[in-house]
Amino acid sequence: MSEYNQQKLTQDVLAAFAGTPDPRLRELMTALVKHIHGFAREVDLEPDEWLAALKFLDAIGQISTERRPEFILLSDTLGLSMMVVALQQARASGGAKGATPATEATVEGPFYWAGAPDLPLGADIGEGVPGEPTFYMGRVTDTNGQPLAGALLDVWSGDGEGKYDVQLSPEPVMKARGRFHTDAEGRYFFWSILPAYYPIPDDGPVGDMMRATNRSIYRPGHMHMQVSAPGHVTLTTHIFVAGSPYIDQDAVFGKRDSLVVDFDHHPPGKAPDSREMGKPYHSASYDFRLAPTPA
Ligand code: BEZ
Ligand code: FE
Repeated sequence: MSEYNQQKLTQDVLAAFAGTPDPRLRELMTALVKHIHGFAREVDLEPDEWLAALKFLDAIGQISTERRPEFILLSDTLGLSMMVVALQQARASGGAKGATPATEATVEGPFYWAGAPDLPLGADIGEGVPGEPTFYMGRVTDTNGQPLAGALLDVWSGDGEGKYDVQLSPEPVMKARGRFHTDAEGRYFFWSILPAYYPIPDDGPVGDMMRATNRSIYRPGHMHMQVSAPGHVTLTTHIFVAGSPYIDQDAVFGKRDSLVVDFDHHPPGKAPDSREMGKPYHSASYDFRLAPTPA
């Protein structure tokens, strides 16, 4: 096809979408067509290459299940999930003049499991989970520093050996997950384990892509938190273990410097919640700031 006909083809496809009644869908489809046509032209895409790409997407669909969402993993490893998170946070950030920005958000990842047990502050979600005991504490405030009482923290992580409960058996049992509500001063505290670095699932098409492109498949150790309170934008984030392997090479580009926390190491003795620890433990302290829901 001549250069003129290539341009005409793109124009014809754009014209075919021009009557889309929903203006946002029209905007999305128009930009998508412009970018994928532009991509094909930029790389002079060959039929075999495009067929291979379609087969790759097909394989992603074939392997996907509710507990194995391979398309999310593709989006994560392309940095697209993190781009969407960053756009959303820029849109939602705000608050009164002089307010500090909300805590940075990061990817949810494929291992969130709704319905974790509601537990009292101080409960241990690391019981029976391999890993070194760790005490987590901090406060939830708004962007003016006012404590948010009754804020909900839904927390989850892999274990100290780099495995999530959902990866341990085809009929997994919830582990290292729990929901906590802050006290009247906006405080939260609970026990779990020190999460280890781990590989993203790499036995599917995304793993093939990572190997073909010589990319690292590892994520640094982190604890996932979804923090919510009425009238505030729900925050999905992690706290990352400072010094964890791969801290500067996160396979899904989720690490943010503001989320990296020193996990202090303590000898056996009295922990901050007065629990007598017969073995060494770690502690991590982190305060979350939630943005007000935009008017
Ligand atoms: C996670 O942190 O659980 C995760 C995020 C993206 C891809 C794989 C795992
Ligand atoms: Fe994770």
